[in-house]
Amino acid sequence: MVKNYEEKIKDLLDKMTVEEKAGQLRQCGPSLVGAFEVSFEELLNMMFDGRISQEEFGRLMSTAKQDFREEDLRAGRIGSYNGIKDARTVNRLQKIAVEETRLGIPLLFGYDVIHGYRTIYPIPLAESCAWEPDLWERTGRMAAREATAAGVHMTFAPMVDVAKDARWGRVSEGAGEDTYVNCCYGESKVKGFQGDDLTKEDAMAACVKHFAGYGAGEAGRDYNRVDMSMQRFYEEYLPPYKACIDAGARAIMPAFNDLWGVPCSVNPWLLMDVLRKDWGFDGLTVSDSNAIAECVDHGIAKDRSDAAVQAIYAGMDLDMSSDVYHENLVQLVHEGKVPVDVLDRAVADVLRLKFELGLFDHPYKTSAEREAQTLLTKENRSLAREAAVKSMVLLKNEGHILPLTPGTKIGVVGSLAKERAEMLGAWAIGAEGEDCVSLVDALEERKQPFEYFENVQDALDFDGVIIAAVGERKDMSGEAASRACIELPKDQEEILKALAGAGKTVVAVLLNGRPLAMPWTAQNIPAILEAWHPGVEGGNAIADILFGDENPGGHLTVTFPGASGQCPMYYAHINTGRPGGRGKFTSKYLDAPIEPVYPFGYGLSYTEFEYGDLKVTPSGDSLEICVTVRNAGKRTGSTVIQCYFRDLVAKRVRPVKQLADFAKVTLEPGEYVQVAFSLEYSRLGYYDMAMNYVLEDGDFEIFVGQNSQDCLSETVTLTF
Ligand code: BGC
Repeated sequence: MVKNYEEKIKDLLDKMTVEEKAGQLRQCGPSLVGAFEVSFEELLNMMFDGRISQEEFGRLMSTAKQDFREEDLRAGRIGSYNGIKDARTVNRLQKIAVEETRLGIPLLFGYDVIHGYRTIYPIPLAESCAWEPDLWERTGRMAAREATAAGVHMTFAPMVDVAKDARWGRVSEGAGEDTYVNCCYGESKVKGFQGDDLTKEDAMAACVKHFAGYGAGEAGRDYNRVDMSMQRFYEEYLPPYKACIDAGARAIMPAFNDLWGVPCSVNPWLLMDVLRKDWGFDGLTVSDSNAIAECVDHGIAKDRSDAAVQAIYAGMDLDMSSDVYHENLVQLVHEGKVPVDVLDRAVADVLRLKFELGLFDHPYKTSAEREAQTLLTKENRSLAREAAVKSMVLLKNEGHILPLTPGTKIGVVGSLAKERAEMLGAWAIGAEGEDCVSLVDALEERKQPFEYFENVQDALDFDGVIIAAVGERKDMSGEAASRACIELPKDQEEILKALAGAGKTVVAVLLNGRPLAMPWTAQNIPAILEAWHPGVEGGNAIADILFGDENPGGHLTVTFPGASGQCPMYYAHINTGRPGGRGKFTSKYLDAPIEPVYPFGYGLSYTEFEYGDLKVTPSGDSLEICVTVRNAGKRTGSTVIQCYFRDLVAKRVRPVKQLADFAKVTLEPGEYVQVAFSLEYSRLGYYDMAMNYVLEDGDFEIFVGQNSQDCLSETVTLTF
């Protein structure tokens, strides 16, 4: 329940100078200063483009200290910080804000808590493969407990950018290619992060990102333009952000990209009309890092002052890191270019969130003691392990190689089996690599005899089963990490080829942050476990599955293409007038199949599930869908029952399948269960050419199955 603070906000605004108001709209990170004259970002660039060596970079960094711009803080010129990672510093700065500034307005501390704060759980793409909203919420809660203990008030998460193009590095940070899965994932995270009362010490505001359509950047290249039909935008890309706002998210981050030529950071249609007028959002908008300034590079603002004018009018409240507001707003107000009420609207949003978080009453929501007791506890690790187990997807298990039977002679190859920090994946900035349990650590811990081979050549004479840990290093996905070719990196595939060439029995454990195009591996390696970047308990979770203590139950939330050139490849495509097939003039490639290697929704188990008795019954305003699922194998296991629909004939061509709902069940051997879905008719509509959401009478095919290809189906005729 959000309280009304408008009177208090107004009282405060009446007391504030224009300088203080502009200060509230400024979010700074601590800047690094040291024996270098350029900014830290420039220093990093210098290392990347070879102007300085890695050693020189390291030497200069060892002289670096954090600068918190305390003089500005005392003068009321800073309203928020980003990226500060300890309770002591947070409280020290908060004390300056509360006791030494004229009005004592508390600071707001933001941080990228993307998949855990210190106890890192699997990357979001991985966790989405658990298809378990309750788990998503519980890990979100755990992240909030840890992060708030370290002083964080707001996380820049969840990311709900629907991502259909596996080349995009940030596919790792969201819940995959499907709109509905992203909606459910986003809602659960918002609930988990925020809890039931934002004033509580362990509640953290969720800043949903990146609004909007960031995952649809052309050619999968990060930050690239986004341009699509308005219908598609509303049907496929907008719903997850809306779902998060409806779930109560109190902040949102406009995306870096432009939409139809207007960067989201200065897009009044997006930030005012859609977000505030249509959706009734009255929370905070936070720019992406330096994004307001980058409007000059986009070529939409002639200079930084122009960018400030455009952004504030568009409804951008908090300026993250660019200092464009800080440098320009006061003067712009004095010159009459920005009216005070335009400034006040933005400042009110910042103050509102500070009130909602209870910061005016309790500015110090944590202490160093609480921080020390809360991070990386046994309980948190155990949840991270559960999440990692549930995120992993068994892609192949020829001849039931897995689970490995006791006494199997085991060899391990691949540096990813050893390098702890590589388990973390993208955006684990509050963590340490040493927090992680690698696969090798886990085997040692279990007292499992095994031989580790540094060099694959040394493994070629080994006569047991070889576990090959291969994939992408963690900096190969995440921000600014798009890949044009999403094959397994050469050196990694060579490991598998050498082993297969020598006739070894190989289990490939994949550690990666995106779907990979790996047709050779899929064909030639008999057992493949997709472990993603699994977080601090990754090694234990992999071992739990390999040795059968746990039965894998994850299902893909992204399609695995067979070649990079097929990207974007996703299950909810349209048919075209010439559906892909063997004929010459069909929609296909000459040099790659039209089918994916692993489809959306796919995932194996150590047991088998049988689906039967699909019944679809129209009833009132919904379709009641019922299916019987039976565990036909010999082990207890979980599966994800997926329900899809297709509108067979419509005035705009419709996807061949759209996910409507899902349910996860755990069944004992021989056990069966009836699973029911209630699909409201309102979900079956689409946007017509005039952008009206319409429900059209006609035939609908309903599918239920364990992946998007292997389904039972029934067609019903509906009149609305
Ligand atoms: C990313 C955001 C992130 C922000 C703050 C940006 O570069 O795009 O997702 O929240 O940095 O660290």
